[in-house]
Amino acid sequence: MKDSNTNKARFILSCFLILFFLFMLASNQVPFNNTLQLSPKTTTKASQLSNTTSSSENKNNLRILIGILTLPDQYLRRHLLRLVYAAQPPPPGAKIDVKFVFCNLTKEDQKILVSLEIMQYNDIIILNCKENMNKGKTLTYFSSLPELLNDTVSPPYHYVMKADDDTYIRFNTLVESLKPLPREDLYYGYVIPCGSMDPFVHYMSGMGYLVSWDIVKWIRGSDIPRKQFEGPEDKVFGEWMREGRKGKNRFNAKWFMYNFPEPPTTCTHELWPDTIAVHLLKNQEKWVRTLQYFNVTQGLKPSKLYHID
Ligand SMILES: *[C@@H]1O[C@H](CO)[C@@H](O)[C@H](O)[C@H]1NC(C)=O
Ligand SMILES: *[C@@H]1O[C@H](CO)[C@@H](O)[C@H](O)[C@H]1NC(C)=O
Ligand SMILES: *[C@@H]1O[C@H](CO)[C@@H](O)[C@H](O)[C@H]1NC(C)=O
Ligand SMILES: *[C@@H]1O[C@H](CO)[C@@H](O)[C@H](O)[C@H]1NC(C)=O
Ligand SMILES: *[C@@H]1O[C@H](CO)[C@@H](O)[C@H](O)[C@H]1NC(C)=O
Repeated sequence: MKDSNTNKARFILSCFLILFFLFMLASNQVPFNNTLQLSPKTTTKASQLSNTTSSSENKNNLRILIGILTLPDQYLRRHLLRLVYAAQPPPPGAKIDVKFVFCNLTKEDQKILVSLEIMQYNDIIILNCKENMNKGKTLTYFSSLPELLNDTVSPPYHYVMKADDDTYIRFNTLVESLKPLPREDLYYGYVIPCGSMDPFVHYMSGMGYLVSWDIVKWIRGSDIPRKQFEGPEDKVFGEWMREGRKGKNRFNAKWFMYNFPEPPTTCTHELWPDTIAVHLLKNQEKWVRTLQYFNVTQGLKPSKLYHID
């Protein structure tokens, strides 16, 4: 009697396990060329999913590196970006490191001023290269990371992003969009050309594209990127992915990522609440309008020391 009961229990348990795995399988099959669904319903589903798996694979601790490729002399831009990113609370279940990335310093004043920044913020990576935009800086960035980070946990980051310094990235929506996605062989971003929604043709825009750590290691080791690294960096990156048959998992983050609405083109979109990134913030006015729209100063505490209204 007792035996048959335990057998029954075992049988039911294995049914549940099988169902669970089927469910996991099915949810991993969600096509990555689909648009992102950030509706409350999907978000709830994703967080339940991460709860149930958290004990086995620690889904809750997503590590992301955002490398902003910029120039040593862009002191004011870095100042603004630091303010903007410091104002975003870290999203639950994720750790995001923002680093500014440039090549060898070339001027005496940079040695002092950039050193001071590093002493204060420690958020700068200086690669061994001569400053350039479309002659391999992106390759140097990705291929340097495995060694630069070889003394930390493994993998140092689950995802690595390359972003422009005129892109505003919102951490919460970024993380929510990444949680359901695979952590292997992922190539994520805003599909080019602007009119296309198919991530398996062409490439992801340089405004901000992201890959999983296995692709970073592949870039480090493969001959393919070394053969061809000149030209528009985002396009060239897409060619590596194609030639290396990498990025079997792709995610088109359009229209959660887009160019600033003005002047309107096929690449622009109105500012809207579920935004992951806004690109082409080329001047202060565009930054201010974007930051205003996303209520970034909402957390300002009242004080008798100032009045802002
Ligand atoms: C995903 O992309 C593939 C290849 O481009 C296409 O055949 C398929 O219909 C797309 N699926 C969805 C749901 O858009
Ligand atoms: C999942 O975790 C969140 C916090 O991390 C918690 O609020 C929520 O209740 C959990 N959901 C389930 C189904 O356990
Ligand atoms: C960058 O600087 C390092 C250290 O000073 C030097 O060894 C290296 O040759 C420089 N690289 C380039 C490409 O100029
Ligand atoms: C990390 O990389 C550096 C530079 O290539 C190397 O000297 C060092 O031995 C490596 N450390 C580990 C732990 O692999
Ligand atoms: C900003 O705050 C206003 C007023 O509280 C609100 O109506 C609006 O939805 C908020 N915008 C965003 C993007 O959260």
